[in-house]
Amino acid sequence: MPVVVIVGAQWGDEGKGKVTDFLARDADYVVRYQGGTNAGHTVVIGSQEFRLHLIPSGIFYPDKVCIIGNGAVIDPEVLFQELDAFRDRGLQTARLFISDRAHLLLPYHRLLDELEEESRGKEQIGTTRRGIGPAYVDKVARRGLRVGELREPGWEDRVFQMVVEKNEYIQKLYGAQGFEPEEIVEYLRPYVDRLLPYLADTSLIIAQAVAEGKNILFEGAQGTLLDLDHGTYPYVTSSSPTAGGVCIGAGIGPTSIDLVLGVSKAYTTRVGEGPFPTELVGSQGEEIRQKGREFGTTTGRPRRCGWLDIVMLRYAVRINGINGLIITKLDVLDKMPKVRLCTAYRYKGELLTEFPASLRVLQECVPVYEELDGWQQDTGGARTFSELPAPAQNFVQRIAQLTGVPVVMVSVGPDRQQTVVLREVFSLLEEKIPSGSKGPLYS
Ligand code: GDP
Ligand code: IMO
Ligand code: MG
Repeated sequence: MPVVVIVGAQWGDEGKGKVTDFLARDADYVVRYQGGTNAGHTVVIGSQEFRLHLIPSGIFYPDKVCIIGNGAVIDPEVLFQELDAFRDRGLQTARLFISDRAHLLLPYHRLLDELEEESRGKEQIGTTRRGIGPAYVDKVARRGLRVGELREPGWEDRVFQMVVEKNEYIQKLYGAQGFEPEEIVEYLRPYVDRLLPYLADTSLIIAQAVAEGKNILFEGAQGTLLDLDHGTYPYVTSSSPTAGGVCIGAGIGPTSIDLVLGVSKAYTTRVGEGPFPTELVGSQGEEIRQKGREFGTTTGRPRRCGWLDIVMLRYAVRINGINGLIITKLDVLDKMPKVRLCTAYRYKGELLTEFPASLRVLQECVPVYEELDGWQQDTGGARTFSELPAPAQNFVQRIAQLTGVPVVMVSVGPDRQQTVVLREVFSLLEEKIPSGSKGPLYS
């Protein structure tokens, strides 16, 4: 495997948790590199369903090391709720390391997220209200608290000062009630004792693992179209979920990454506001929502559903340098007599084949569809590509053709077992780096 990145190729919730858990079987390390508890990753193992917000989806194997990198924001309350719940369910959670450079997310960030959303009125982003934006704002403004600071004497004074400062915004800008600084210090104190043993220089741990040739899996949260730079700004999150974010958010160089896998549903969903060209607002959208159980893992909100958007997927391939695609939730389309792929947009008489930066343009784009036969058979039991009905195989192959990227895996149900492997990740790596040769640059 060596160093493999898993990124969401759409607007999040592509099934990254399931895919990471599946591939983690062959990994030694599983690393989250950005985001926070806005993520909701679901892993289904037999009759058990687990929902992860911060803990990497490698935690279900007792021998894997899990890391939360510096690019993530840590809400200690949710982190320990998650750890305690997993421990109660019999999982070992001692193999977790958290970067001492990661930033802390405190209750005032959550309150500010709420207040900012309320003040936006009709212009709401539809955030998860987990405090993510305000926590990253503090980081970028160079006034955030890093978890490593909690090791140092006097951290209480820093927290106290931060609360005093935040109260200014909360009270003067929003007319809301702030926090008692002592209250936040005392709220944090028990978490500090629990957090310290997990803290480490995680970039160093990863560098050593890379040097030893260990298999390392980076688990993206959110998705390409939610990326702060490359997504549908301002309807995005405040971090960099794209593959480039791995270098910044985990502290490894780009030369260490061997493979980038993009995860996409067989259709498209979006939770929160913002343009969505292939959205289906009628009964077909509702059918996908019900069959796909498209309700947010973190917020329970119904997800907006639509056909697979190849223009967007090709954009995600480019931005992330995706070498292999993983198509999830194929089974959700099982009953459809016809299935569609959006291959271009029509905008004011012009044909667009590249994803536009302007939301105003995107809003007015009319999808151009290619229609394919549906398969109208159950795919949930398929374990090999040849067990998929011919029209389903054709649909998957067409996605590969239109994006120019091989499909390496297809998921046909939420369970770990409901997975069809087309190409072993190892074989892809061998194709990329021909054995016995490092290419003309070295000759
Ligand atoms: P993530 O945020 O990318 O990890 O995705 P979520 O866990 O938020 O959402 C994906 C949902 O689809 C979860 O409920 C998964 O259990 C479920 N899921 C994943 N893969 C499949 C699949 O192939 N078929 C079906 N029916 N459900 C799936
Ligand atoms: P996973 O990792 C889907 C969306 C929110 C909102 C926007 C900004 O489970 O795929 P934020 O709280 O981050 O400031 O919200 O981003 N969003 C997600 N949508 N999946 C996620 O994570 C998301 N994390 C954030 O709905 O539109
Ligand atoms: Mg999710």
